[in-house]
Amino acid sequence: MFNAAMQYRKMGASGLRLSALALGGWTTYGASVKDSDTVERIITAAFEAGVNFFDISDVYEKGEAEKSMGKVLAKFPRHELVISTKVFWPMSDDVNDKGLSRKHIMESIEKSLRRIGTPYVDLYFCHRPDPDTPIEETARAMDDLIHQGKVLYWGTSEWSADQIREAHAVCDKRNLVKPAVEQPQLSLIKRQKFLDEISPACRALGAGVVTWSPLASGMLSGKYDEGLPQGARLTRSENLRASYVTEASRAAVKKLKPIADEMGCTRSQLAIAWAMAQSGVTCVITGATKFEQLKENLGALKVNMTDELKRRLEAAIPAG
Ligand SMILES: NC(=O)c1ccc[n+]([C@@H]2O[C@H](COP(=O)([O-])OP(=O)(O)OC[C@H]3O[C@@H](n4cnc5c(N)ncnc54)[C@H](OP(=O)(O)O)[C@@H]3O)[C@@H](O)[C@H]2O)c1
Repeated sequence: MFNAAMQYRKMGASGLRLSALALGGWTTYGASVKDSDTVERIITAAFEAGVNFFDISDVYEKGEAEKSMGKVLAKFPRHELVISTKVFWPMSDDVNDKGLSRKHIMESIEKSLRRIGTPYVDLYFCHRPDPDTPIEETARAMDDLIHQGKVLYWGTSEWSADQIREAHAVCDKRNLVKPAVEQPQLSLIKRQKFLDEISPACRALGAGVVTWSPLASGMLSGKYDEGLPQGARLTRSENLRASYVTEASRAAVKKLKPIADEMGCTRSQLAIAWAMAQSGVTCVITGATKFEQLKENLGALKVNMTDELKRRLEAAIPAG
């Protein structure tokens, strides 16, 4: 359907291969996009373009993203898919319905598998570190799920480099399966933690890295240059808008326009291609509320991201 040939990359030292571009469901499927025909059109187009990794979480619209995406993913051969979900954020007011305790992990996976409609997930992420649970308790629960065949690889998301290193050390000491992948935020706007800590730590440990929000929730596309387009994410969400839309960020994003024009691509494609080209990145998880966005974003695979181009983009957008 699309001309850009998909690339597949090994997830760190593991044998698993992920498409360099993945599609995620945060704030979108089962949420801002409830129409099942649109969800099906976007996910099917992604799959047909070679996307094999689909990223979900239990907490995305309290299970609705798992149901909405699972319904479409059930139409494709299971072995051609890498499906992830996550655990950590509260799913109700119950004291134990949150965090990374053995109880919450064991109960959450059953609910996620039922909602997605799959006997196993390929990747199961600890969505944040849990200061109230020893890492060994979490690692042992993940190791058990892997032995039970309900999870193939476990990972972390937004953990610090020290926390990831500690998890590896505990698993080494107790002979448990180690976390194979970290899911950090990475975009031209939010890049410092990844560059300073996460990329070097994951490369040293042999962990894969799948990054989120390459467009800074759409900011880097340039659609907020002159105002707040109706219905767009940063128009809808005041909290997200506060962290991304400022006069300084608008001015910086505008500086990408002549570079994109010169390269014959769009600002979204440049921003995604920049993230895909960072050291240690296995895959960039994108989001799309419209078929046209997905189509445009897949075009990032065709951008020739040289070191010189990276430097120009980084000079245009100061980190943070
Ligand atoms: N682990 C974590 O803590 C965490 C956190 C956040 C996200 N994630 C994962 O990462 C995935 C991607 O994150 P994200 O959705 O924030 O990615 P993103 O690429 O930064 O933002 C995607 C959003 O930007 C807009 N957009 C996309 N392409 C566009 C284009 N070409 N032109 C204009 N607007 C465009 C769309 O929103 P509108 O049309 O509504 O404006 C779309 O939903 C999530 O779905 C989730 O799976 C993980």
